[in-house]
Amino acid sequence: MSELKTAKRIPILRILTRLRKFSQNPIPFMQQFLDETDGLCEISLGMQKMYLTRKHEIARHILQQNHRNYIKSKIVTEFTPYIGHGLLTVDGAYWRRQRRLLQPGFHKAKLQQLTEIMLSETEDFMQELATTADRGEPILMAKEMMEVTMKVVARGLFGSGLNDEDLGQIDRALTEVQQHLVTIVRKPMVKPLLHLLGKERKVQSYIKDIDAIIYGIVAERRASGEQQGDLLDMLLDSRYEDTGLGMTDKQIRDESLIFFVAGHETSANALTWVFYLLSKHPEVLQKVRAEVDTVSQGGALDFDKVNQLHYIKQVLMEGMRMYPPAWIVDRVALEDDQVAGYKLPKDIPVNLLIYGIHHDPELWPEPQKFDPDRFTPEKIKQQVKFSYFPFGGGPRLCIGQGFAMLEMQIIVAELANRFDFSYADESEPELFPLVTLRPLNNMPMLITNRTEHEPA
Ligand code: HEM
Repeated sequence: MSELKTAKRIPILRILTRLRKFSQNPIPFMQQFLDETDGLCEISLGMQKMYLTRKHEIARHILQQNHRNYIKSKIVTEFTPYIGHGLLTVDGAYWRRQRRLLQPGFHKAKLQQLTEIMLSETEDFMQELATTADRGEPILMAKEMMEVTMKVVARGLFGSGLNDEDLGQIDRALTEVQQHLVTIVRKPMVKPLLHLLGKERKVQSYIKDIDAIIYGIVAERRASGEQQGDLLDMLLDSRYEDTGLGMTDKQIRDESLIFFVAGHETSANALTWVFYLLSKHPEVLQKVRAEVDTVSQGGALDFDKVNQLHYIKQVLMEGMRMYPPAWIVDRVALEDDQVAGYKLPKDIPVNLLIYGIHHDPELWPEPQKFDPDRFTPEKIKQQVKFSYFPFGGGPRLCIGQGFAMLEMQIIVAELANRFDFSYADESEPELFPLVTLRPLNNMPMLITNRTEHEPA
């Protein structure tokens, strides 16, 4: 049997000498290291040694073929004191139990119920946007998309149980918590200092505010027994197969907060980049509009019609190939492993650079070219496994994939049909990869009411 290879080490000095640039956007550095190392390298930041890869066969092995040997890394579990023990942050038997319980809540029938909420939130959002469009001022697309996807997920979760004031408070609190988390993950050495400065206490007080709101809504809904067709109904009604019991309030709080966190920034960033791409590719925008005209026949959209928006789906998929919101995911091996001729020792985190795989020229010729026709049904069948996985893969595939696609198809269809967009910055947007892949400039865009609107 041939000898197993060890991942090549990148000298830490190469990162330390350019730490500022690396912290702002590590992707070009990572891509360069991977160019030099056959797609798998070892890097160390601080005390922690880790692997980085853009080999699709390694991603497939870790996420799917040998997934039982892998758990989430400390970076993810670091979140649990703040956002709790929900699907995204737990592992093992508890994860399996929760996933089985929650999965039906995202099936087609539930999504169909949620469509009305998504359509009405998009309509409200467009009313506000129309006022801005009349004034002819540029907007920050990233902020706008964050707001609309936050509202969609909030109403999808809690129906009318959450008023705008409470939603604003959750939004502000989560922003603070996320900033704190990014700081302690990227600069672990400052954690004791933040503790001393009372920052940790402050963050915990934000969490208490969020808890008070969510527990309040849950108590109200339990007392009224009302059904609102939202995800909270599902969380309250679901029963474990073995015991026949439902979740505790604490579990419901944890799972719903995870949906909040996982479910809006990702979609917001995907949409932001897609509107940027549409603004640069009028021929694609035209095809999007033609599809909306054909499907809607001048009437309102509904669940069945949204499912016929195939071209818009292709545009979204290509947008997420070029700008995957979850640009990197990681896992840690429980036992020593091997794949593609390489050793993967236990306890060392492996970072799967989704962005790198989505831009691999061997998998995606001319990777920088925006071409939604890469995702026609015929082309999808020919794709290499794990050459494209913006929603992750294997058993831990994003549970909200159907929710996100439905929501994003609605938002693209409605906005593209109603407005013209032009990118309003002198230089092209730079990548700003935090937890998700944002544009550094928040994507200024001029939105105007659409001038011509010829029927199909
Ligand atoms: C464009 C939008 C979205 C993208 C790109 C995305 C991406 C992902 C990815 C890559 C994972 C796997 C992470 C890993 O393997 O470590 C994941 C997991 C997850 N996502 Fe999403 N997501 C999106 C929208 C949503 C929405 C709308 C929700 C909820 C309403 C959601 C809830 C979750 C949850 C709960 C998990 C954990 C699933 C598990 O481990 O069982 N996501 N997502």
